[in-house]
Amino acid sequence: MNTVNEKINNEQYYIDLEDQYGAHNYHPLPVVIERGEGIYMYDVNGKQYFDFLSAYSAVNQGHCHPRITKALTEQAQKLTLTSRAFHNNLLGEYEKYMTHYFGYDKVLPMNTGVEGGETAIKLARRWGYAVKGIAENQAHILFAEGNFWGRTMAAISSSNDPSSFLNFGPFMPGFSLIPYNDLTALETAFHSNPNIAAFMFEPIQGEAGVVVPDDGYISGIRALCDKYNVLMIADEVQTGLCRTGKMLACDYAGVKPDVLVLGKALSGGVLPVSAVLANNEVMLTIKPGEHGSTYGGNPLACAVAMEALKVLVDENLAENAFNMGEIFRSRMKQLQTKTNLVELVRGKGLLNAIVIKPLGYGKTAYNVCLAMKENGLLAKQTHGNIIRFAPPLTINEKQINEACDIIEKTILALA
Ligand SMILES: Cc1ncc(COP(=O)(O)O)c(C=O)c1O
Repeated sequence: MNTVNEKINNEQYYIDLEDQYGAHNYHPLPVVIERGEGIYMYDVNGKQYFDFLSAYSAVNQGHCHPRITKALTEQAQKLTLTSRAFHNNLLGEYEKYMTHYFGYDKVLPMNTGVEGGETAIKLARRWGYAVKGIAENQAHILFAEGNFWGRTMAAISSSNDPSSFLNFGPFMPGFSLIPYNDLTALETAFHSNPNIAAFMFEPIQGEAGVVVPDDGYISGIRALCDKYNVLMIADEVQTGLCRTGKMLACDYAGVKPDVLVLGKALSGGVLPVSAVLANNEVMLTIKPGEHGSTYGGNPLACAVAMEALKVLVDENLAENAFNMGEIFRSRMKQLQTKTNLVELVRGKGLLNAIVIKPLGYGKTAYNVCLAMKENGLLAKQTHGNIIRFAPPLTINEKQINEACDIIEKTILALA
């Protein structure tokens, strides 16, 4: 039996606990984090790391942002949850703030990102029947191959990634897939099926490995959705809230989706807060008692989300993400000239990825992540050969260059 001090310094102790008592549904890097501050995380031995994942873009404002934690602790001492059986004094304020901030008539508050996606699909089906005039139970939702929007049955029913859906069937009907970044395929699908209520897509596919579509794709989706009377649902759970260098990734195209799904950084990484925004024609098709969530719109979440959104604007995080992203990609492109291990560099703002050539000896991008961890930077591979780099958006020029030095040193050593 370890003493308390041995336990504190022994990461393996915590890893073994998770292994023994937790479900084995993740494969984390072997590092045990105890504290986060700004762009840094600290392990149980006090070692400092650059956080280059930001909890999959949830911690855009930086770890434990003082203004957001202040909003959290102040509200936590007053009122945390009423359920929607009663009104609370923050929900309306939050809804007003959100709808003005993003320019929609209404918001529907949920908790996790995947619940936001589920809500968007329910709204689209309901709109399909009530407004578009689709016959009962015939509404169809179109998705792009490579999409990722969570782990519920609906989310995996629209996935073409076997690790998401294999042996979890039967699946949700009324969904189909077309290739991403392919407007011809989109128009063919719209043309051939008048029962399509919505096309749900990510403006940049995050989990697929930061797949950036061609210029013109997002505006092309808008035009086709208008032409065929189909709702455009943008899943900006990962790309939204300044991550890609604009408030929303759709802003690059100057396009407004009919339904906008947000999550993750809506709370600055403090608690699960998601939201679906739409205009009345869509939102008012759902009536009292037809959709909801015990925690959705809770006053604690409302207080935190309003502060998290204010921080994005007050600290110019979109502009900073844009500028730091330019530096990051130019450093990675320089690195490409020094080694053929880096096949591709892609991304927008501070949502970036590099594609790694096979390292040989059975080693993969995971081994690169392990080596970066040793050198003080945490990032996570996806699909075996891709590493996503998504630091908190508060990172400055000196820090991003230091982080790039670590990435470069690690990759050149492996090469
Ligand atoms: C684009 C996108 N949508 C939705 C989700 C689901 O969010 P959550 O894990 O909070 O349910 C994710 C999670 O990574 C995501 O990347």
